[in-house]
Amino acid sequence: MQERLRHLTEACAAALSAATSSEELNALRVKYLGKNGELTAILRGMKDVSPADRPKIGALINAAREEITVSVDRKAAELAARELEEKLQSERLDITLPAVEQPRGGYHPQTIVKRQIVEIFREMGYSVEDGAEVETDYFCFEALNIPKDHPAREMQDTFYIDDTYLLRSQTSTTQVHAMQRGALPIKMISPGRVYRSDEPDATHSPMFHQIEGLVIDRGITLCDLKGTLDVFAKKFFGEATKTRLRPSFFPFTEPSIEVDATCSQCGGKGCRVCKGTGWIEIMGAGMVNRNVLSLSGIDPDEFSGFAFGMGLDRITNIKYGITDLRVVFENDVRFLKQFR
Ligand code: PHE
Repeated sequence: MQERLRHLTEACAAALSAATSSEELNALRVKYLGKNGELTAILRGMKDVSPADRPKIGALINAAREEITVSVDRKAAELAARELEEKLQSERLDITLPAVEQPRGGYHPQTIVKRQIVEIFREMGYSVEDGAEVETDYFCFEALNIPKDHPAREMQDTFYIDDTYLLRSQTSTTQVHAMQRGALPIKMISPGRVYRSDEPDATHSPMFHQIEGLVIDRGITLCDLKGTLDVFAKKFFGEATKTRLRPSFFPFTEPSIEVDATCSQCGGKGCRVCKGTGWIEIMGAGMVNRNVLSLSGIDPDEFSGFAFGMGLDRITNIKYGITDLRVVFENDVRFLKQFR
C-alpha cells in the first residue's frame, strides 16, 4: 500500500513537470484526484487493510492527497501565469508605429463668411429665408419694378430657360415671395446662389452668391438702413470700421445707395486693396421703391422698408485678401487648406 502511494506521488510529480498547458493539467487533476481517479482507487483498497493498520495508512493517503493537490495547484498557477505572459507578448501593440493620418477637413471660406454674416443679422432679429434658383421672370424682374424689355434689365442679364423661367440673377426673388405671403412686418435675409451671363474673370463669375436683406414695417427710414449697415460693418470688419453712403440707382429702390466701408486692410489710410482710396464698396441698398410695395399688395402710404444686397464672394475676397474670384470656385485643396 505504502509502495503504491509512493509510486503514485512520483508518477504524478513526473507527469506534472512534463505538462505544458492548462488542458493537460486539468486532465492530470482528474486522473489523480478525480472521483474515478487513482487516489480514490487506492482509498477503495482500505477495506482490505487490517483495522490496526488503517489509521496509519489513512494518514498516508491523506498526506499523499495533500501533496498532489498542492503540486497540481502550484503547477496550475505557473501555467496560468505563463499563458497570460504569452498572450500579452503575442497581442502586443507597437505604439511606436506612425499612425495612419486622418486628413481633417475644413469649411470653404465662403461658408465661413456666410455663417458670420448670417449670425450678425440673426442677432439683430432677422429671419433667414431660402429660395429656388430656377425662378420666373415675374419674381426675378417684373415684381421688382423691371418690366419686360426695360433697359434696366441690362444690369442683370441671366440664363433663360424659356419665356417664363430663368436662373435667378438676384436673391431679391425670395423677398418678393415673402412680401406676397403678406405677413408684416418683414425682417429677413436671403442668402443664396445667383446667376448672370458674365464671362469668368478675376472679378466675375456666371454663378456667384448674394446675401440680401429686407425690412418692411411702418415708419422705416433711411436712418434705420444706415444704422443697421453701420452695425453690420463694425461687427464684421471690426469696431473701428466706418461706413459712408453714395447715391446710386436700382430699379427696385428709391432712393438707392452704394455702401462703402473703410478699408479693413489699411484702416482707411489707403493701400493696394482699396486702390489708395481708403474705402471699399461692400453693397448696394436703398428704400424699397413704392412700386415694388404696390406690386406685392403692400400699401406704400402705410408701410415703408429698406433693402440691401451684398455679394458673398466679394465680401469673402475682401476679408481674406483673395484677388482672383476663380480660385474660390476651383476647389484646389492647396487653396482650401489655408482656411482651416
Ligand atoms: N439685388 C441687387 C443686385 O443684385 C442688390 C440690391 C439689393 C440693391 C437690395 C439694392 C437693394 O444688384
